[in-house]
Amino acid sequence: MHVHRFEKLWIGLSLLLIAAFIGIVLFGFTVMNLKVPGVETGETVDPATVLSEGPFAKPGVRKISDDHYEVYMLAQQFIFRPGSTRPLTLPADTKITFHMTSPDVMHGFEVPGSGLNSTVIPGQVATFTTRFPEAKSYGIICHQYCGSAHHNMQGEIKVVP
Ligand code: CUA
Repeated sequence: MHVHRFEKLWIGLSLLLIAAFIGIVLFGFTVMNLKVPGVETGETVDPATVLSEGPFAKPGVRKISDDHYEVYMLAQQFIFRPGSTRPLTLPADTKITFHMTSPDVMHGFEVPGSGLNSTVIPGQVATFTTRFPEAKSYGIICHQYCGSAHHNMQGEIKVVP
């Protein structure tokens, strides 16, 4: 009789633990709005209108101050805008804040040699801040399979003095 009660207790506790785990995960992704690494702000956009409305309608570099620039960049099948048709030119040793999103499917944004690496998800804005110490050219590659020309999706960042 006593054993039976303990068994019931432990089954109850195990179920409670499972429920707690599920609860924590749901809480993290809904209430706390957890995102994949690289996404700091939790800012969202509508992929259907991102090309026509808001800052991503005119992607490019904006100067905030002498020591701070920001870049609105689109990763889309199969280019980085800006960055692919012509290099994205940025000043060296200056704070650079990237805002990235995708109007179509998930892409990757990796700049080998700089430590920059993010996933770009439609509907979400990936925001990260960096500083390129010296004048140098970097490649940009997409590291998420995004369709037939994924392997050609690349760009260039030209850091100038
Ligand atoms: Cu974009 Cu792979």
